[in-house]
Amino acid sequence: MKYLVAFMALVIPVSSNYTEIPRITIGYDVHGHAVKMPLVGAGTWQYNDTTAYDSLCKAFRAGLTFVDTAYGYGNQVGVSRAIHDCYTGHRSDLFVLTKVPGGLTFDEVRAAHHHNLFQLNIEYVDHLMTHFPADWEATKASKERRQEEWRALEEIYYTGKARSIGISHYCPQHIDDILEIATVMPSINQVEYHVGSGDVDGVMEKCRANNITFMSFSPLCGPCQYEPEDSLITGKLVSEIAQRYNVTGAQVSLRFIVQQALQEGSFIGGVIPKSNNIDHILSNMDLFSFELSEEDMDLLRQAKKPSAEAGDCDVP
Ligand SMILES: NC(=O)c1ccc[n+]([C@@H]2O[C@H](COP(=O)([O-])OP(=O)(O)OC[C@H]3O[C@@H](n4cnc5c(N)ncnc54)[C@H](OP(=O)(O)O)[C@@H]3O)[C@@H](O)[C@H]2O)c1
Ligand SMILES: *[C@@H]1O[C@H](CO)[C@@H](O)[C@H](O)[C@H]1NC(C)=O
Ligand SMILES: *[C@@H]1O[C@H](CO)[C@@H](O)[C@H](O)[C@H]1NC(C)=O
Ligand SMILES: *[C@@H]1O[C@H](CO)[C@@H](O)[C@H](O)[C@H]1NC(C)=O
Ligand SMILES: *[C@@H]1O[C@H](CO)[C@@H](O)[C@H](O)[C@H]1NC(C)=O
Repeated sequence: MKYLVAFMALVIPVSSNYTEIPRITIGYDVHGHAVKMPLVGAGTWQYNDTTAYDSLCKAFRAGLTFVDTAYGYGNQVGVSRAIHDCYTGHRSDLFVLTKVPGGLTFDEVRAAHHHNLFQLNIEYVDHLMTHFPADWEATKASKERRQEEWRALEEIYYTGKARSIGISHYCPQHIDDILEIATVMPSINQVEYHVGSGDVDGVMEKCRANNITFMSFSPLCGPCQYEPEDSLITGKLVSEIAQRYNVTGAQVSLRFIVQQALQEGSFIGGVIPKSNNIDHILSNMDLFSFELSEEDMDLLRQAKKPSAEAGDCDVP
């Protein structure tokens, strides 16, 4: 009887609607502990504090434990409130990814991350990346700038205020600038990647060769311009495939990325779809109850639309 009670106490939490999302190791923190990133997180680009708060409260209640934000999104106070009000797990199970702007000096990087932690109201982030290989206008664009910024990110890593550090929008030549001086390897490069994008400018191949996790942004092509038939939510290709598995087009688009991440020894990360709709959030997390056939993966791999925006490699 005692045994049965203990057993039931263990079983009850598991029978709730909480979905365990697989994680991948993206690197090791300054104490040598593995940094494990969930394969599904919540995006927040273009959300103000209020919408970030609303969407993240839905996401946390649904069981997501990973948020992608940035200094430049201007919504970290909303993110912080959602963490404090709606996330009920342990800090160590939450994965907070934020960014500092590109093109900063050493001291500016330090100040920007201080501001991140102040707004987020937490002691450390799980991943900190530089948002772009230069400032957005590329007026402060050079190898020396990128190296100075990387040295500042390394200092933050060594203090423990970021468990891992990385880059975003980096092209092969920008990655080489970092590798030349790095004492801490970049653990992630976050780049636009989805069905139809292919490997723009050989960035995936560069990441594979250097064991940098290649992480998709805009997995549903949220901000892309495309014909309705090319949509990654309601378009022809993803909808046809979705029918075969009784899932939605969006689930097919997200599973395409996640399934690559699940391969043994993969260098591909998961997905951070943005949504403020609970039904979308729940289905965007439900990616582990079906598996796409090799034929369908090939069809998705061969898609040429919607394309990704090129141009990051123009940054000198
Ligand atoms: N490093 C960078 O520079 C960079 C650049 C771009 C993006 N990112 C990150 O990547 C995240 C995701 O990319 P994104 O925001 O560009 O776009 P996205 O996630 O590809 O698409 C978001 C759009 O899709 C809709 N949506 C989501 N799930 C859906 C579903 N199941 N069915 C129908 N519609 C659905 C959302 O509307 P609803 O609210 O109606 O669901 C929203 O309008 C960003 O939020 C940001 O965190 C980073
Ligand atoms: C690649 O990086 C992962 C995560 O840091 C690590 O576990 C793995 O050993 C690395 N592989 C190689 C070949 O360096
Ligand atoms: C935040 O964004 C939402 C959705 O676009 C909008 O309705 C709301 O007015 C905005 N709030 C503020 C304070 O700007
Ligand atoms: C999960 O279950 C709890 C308790 O039954 C419920 O309050 C919550 O709304 C559910 N979450 C979702 C996203 O369905
Ligand atoms: C298809 O999926 C829907 C929604 O998840 C579900 O309600 C329905 O029972 C499924 N149908 C089959 C044939 O599995």
